[in-house]
Amino acid sequence: MNEEQRLASQQVKQEKDYSKYFERVFTAPSLKEAKKRGKEEIKYNNDFAIDEQFLGMGNDRTFYIRTYGCQMNEHDTEVMAGIFMELGYTPTENIEVADVVLLNTCAIREGAENKVFGELGFLMKYKRKNPEMLIGVCGCMSQEEAVVNKILKTYQHVDMVFGTHNIHRLPNILKEAYMSKEMVVEVWSKEGDIIENLPKQRLGSIKAWVNIMYGCDKFCTYCIVPYTRGKERSRRPQEIIQEVRELAAQGYKEIMLLGQNVNAYGKDFEDSNYRLGDLMDEIRKIDIPRIRFTTSHPRDFDNHLIEVLAQKGNLVEHIHLPVQSGSNEILKIMARKYTREHFLQLVDKIKAAIPDVALTTDIIVGYPNETEEQFQETLDLYRQVGFEMAFTYIYSPREGTPAAKMVDNVPDEVKKERLHRLNAVVAEYSANALKSYQGQVVEVLVEGSSKRRDDVLAGYTRKNKLVNFAGSKELVGQLVKVKIIDTKSHSLVGEFVEVVKEAEVQRS
Ligand code: 5AD
Ligand code: SF4
Repeated sequence: MNEEQRLASQQVKQEKDYSKYFERVFTAPSLKEAKKRGKEEIKYNNDFAIDEQFLGMGNDRTFYIRTYGCQMNEHDTEVMAGIFMELGYTPTENIEVADVVLLNTCAIREGAENKVFGELGFLMKYKRKNPEMLIGVCGCMSQEEAVVNKILKTYQHVDMVFGTHNIHRLPNILKEAYMSKEMVVEVWSKEGDIIENLPKQRLGSIKAWVNIMYGCDKFCTYCIVPYTRGKERSRRPQEIIQEVRELAAQGYKEIMLLGQNVNAYGKDFEDSNYRLGDLMDEIRKIDIPRIRFTTSHPRDFDNHLIEVLAQKGNLVEHIHLPVQSGSNEILKIMARKYTREHFLQLVDKIKAAIPDVALTTDIIVGYPNETEEQFQETLDLYRQVGFEMAFTYIYSPREGTPAAKMVDNVPDEVKKERLHRLNAVVAEYSANALKSYQGQVVEVLVEGSSKRRDDVLAGYTRKNKLVNFAGSKELVGQLVKVKIIDTKSHSLVGEFVEVVKEAEVQRS
């Protein structure tokens, strides 16, 4: 060992020795705390800055973030990547050699959680080869007590666990993890304030996600989200509008506005009645070709919003409207707070205002004690609405939610068989919706080459239909007209017609 190496190893030892001066960072989650909804006002902060002590922490180090679950998580990953880059870390595509690996997890169903536990097993192997690797678990699973206990007991190669409310603490958590010999656990069960100026390393340059609100107060009886994401907090309109304007100026073509329950937007503003309809009415005037939003709750979908959406322009005629079930009894025990009739009335209103609207939905089958008749009501409602696509799930009990305590008499085989039958109806309606495009010319936002062939481009229509067509790579990022010549079960095949002229882009 030469002098330089000896000094370096001494420095590492010294750094490790610091750990005894640090108290163990250990703030574990509590679902009971997470359930509480306080009256405290939400503070809006604009003061995020990387503390000097952390600058350069990532020099000569790489990071890798694996994201599970919804678009909210994808967007959180962009924020964490932004923080990593400000700390000097470099992104790597190769998880095996990364210096820091984060799993940004999803808790919505058991299957999602099992994938993460499987991955943690794999990471053990990489860490054996590369003992300096830091492994972190963040996102929704970290907010669950049972998960954190399991990680503490079974996955001791994990170095840090942090939750959805303290992403901005990533620099501190990393530093603690480098110093401490024990697992750093920092999960806040109560939501924090809204921090506006977090850095973001966006994954794409064509489409961007913009948060409009955080959390959910609906407490549907099956759902873990109100516990993992905290109470409803809306961002101020001016901040959202400013962010969308900046993205438009940077050349982004499509914005997805995000929230767990976007229709509750503004309900937490004590000083105004500003709601989602008002926000969409302002965003509609921004010079950007496409605006979408997700996810809607039928209960708060008001007339003003429908009127605004009916003006179209950059507001696309596609609405994702989760219904969950077509049975009033099941909707009641799900605590969805609407009936089948109310849902159908809402659909009628939307269709009257936007006749060419494409509606898609989420459905859960095999809810505790769901009968065959109740399931048939779901199939019937699906047909009555004529949804163009659906995400369908078998009910998965989530510890801590009211439904998890319900006695369930529906055997697994019956649940699977119902899902199968529902999926057949979904496939039939999706295929019919796609067939109706045959011969039509549609507007496609070109996103890149198709997964299988380099000379085939892929993009989406305003109604979110995937279109493949032959074309030059220069078209990527542009809005083009494509004539549909064939339909597959999940996509359309077309021929390039022309680039959409600037004057024809439906902006406002
Ligand atoms: N089991 C099955 N599906 C669920 N979802 C939410 N919680 C559960 C659960 N416990 C579904 C709902 C929701 C979508 C995001 O996930 O359909 O709309
Ligand atoms: Fe979960 Fe959506 Fe219900 Fe909120 S509205 S509890 S996120 S299903």
